[in-house]
Amino acid sequence: MSPRSTTPGTNQSWGGRFSEPTDAFVERFTASVTFDQRLALQDIQGSVAHATMLARVGVLTDEERDAIVTGLGEIRAEIERGEFQWSVKLEDVHMNIEARLTDKIGITGKKLHTGRSRNDQVATDIRLFLRDEIDVVEAELIRLREGLIALADREADTIMPGFTHLQTAQPVTFGHHLLAWQEMLARDHERLLDCRKRVNVLPLGAAALAGTTYPIDRHVTAELLGFERPAENSLDAVSDRDFAIEFTAFASILLMHLSRMSEELVLWTSAQFDFIDLPDRFCTGSSIMPQKKNPDVPELVRGKTGRVYGHLIGLLTLMKSQPLAYNKDNQEDKEPLFDTLDTVRDCLKAFADMAPAITPRKASMYEAARRGFSTATDLADYLVRRGVAFRDAHEIVGQSVAFGLREGRDLSEMTLEELRQFSDTIDEDVFEVLTLEGSVAARNHIGGTAPDQVRAAAQRARDALAALASHGRQDGRA
Ligand code: ARG
Repeated sequence: MSPRSTTPGTNQSWGGRFSEPTDAFVERFTASVTFDQRLALQDIQGSVAHATMLARVGVLTDEERDAIVTGLGEIRAEIERGEFQWSVKLEDVHMNIEARLTDKIGITGKKLHTGRSRNDQVATDIRLFLRDEIDVVEAELIRLREGLIALADREADTIMPGFTHLQTAQPVTFGHHLLAWQEMLARDHERLLDCRKRVNVLPLGAAALAGTTYPIDRHVTAELLGFERPAENSLDAVSDRDFAIEFTAFASILLMHLSRMSEELVLWTSAQFDFIDLPDRFCTGSSIMPQKKNPDVPELVRGKTGRVYGHLIGLLTLMKSQPLAYNKDNQEDKEPLFDTLDTVRDCLKAFADMAPAITPRKASMYEAARRGFSTATDLADYLVRRGVAFRDAHEIVGQSVAFGLREGRDLSEMTLEELRQFSDTIDEDVFEVLTLEGSVAARNHIGGTAPDQVRAAAQRARDALAALASHGRQDGRA
């Protein structure tokens, strides 16, 4: 027998105990369907698994399950075709889909929610959604890492100034600089995969907060949805949003790295540095200054970092005072998480497309390394090898640099006699260490900038990336 109809103007799903309709503003204020409809396909996926499990344990008949699965399949097609009518009156994605199912298949549709609550349902939907998105983010991250490794290998011999305090310090190779970026991204990649493990846990079965009286089998549901295991504790399962915070923390660190890279790209494309060229397709012009070619893509990535940091603080603050278990506050988790995902994906795509197209202006990089006495440390090391104490060597080189500054010449452009004014330990072979090529080649150990080391490091990075990707295929990642 059907229950008496609910008070007109109240929600069909919970209107039974209400005696007046919801205030129109409150209806809009509490609804989430305008944004949580993004979870629709995962909501259906979760419901299909739930109904399948309920039939497996005998709570639904096989016919009921089939009607539910078929009805949900049709709803999925309506959503994909853009024909589904979303209603704010039905509050959220879950109740919109359930109401449509009941329209289509009648009373059996009302049985789908047996042994389940929107609390465990929404937590499951977000985890399914985030898991899919993590796999997309990972694919872009891999593409960017591969692009940087290939470029680094190609530019292993290209010399540029290395900086500390943004002042010319010592010559490095461009390949070495690119592999420094790659290391940042390798750590981000590990963080992403570590976060994925904690996303991949099933809340369903926790029901509203305490579990359910039906003989459910949560291992079956977990397996059907590809989750590693059911969540251990029902109170925690419905209220935990650590996984969203962790993803946003991963995203914040990644964006911080992309922002640092962006800053360098912006500097390097300037006329003052003139180190690289970015193809026109990644730049835009000025509406007033005809000569301008602006590095908008890296600038915008740098700018977008701020919103992701904001979302991290937003989510942490959302969770900080919530008592167990589910609270409506949790509905506020979705928009920051969605925006973080969209931002990370777009920024990674921009970088993955752009990285292979970075063209170094080699002559200009080389000239910049030659200016600024970048081989001064090499001269000091040379003196030390000849028995001079490092502090004395530092002083001798300091005087040589002061001389060079007065004369407007680099150390490698001085004559042997000029250099010997400061130390008679200096011989003709000093010029081998004063060249930029000699300077970089001498840093020939693991982690050093020597071209051979850069090529070996690029190979190791390629191997590590391939190992991580094949490990991923074993965990069922895309
Ligand atoms: N729209 C809700 C959310 O996003 C779904 C869960 C609502 N549960 C409840 N008991 N009101 O969190």
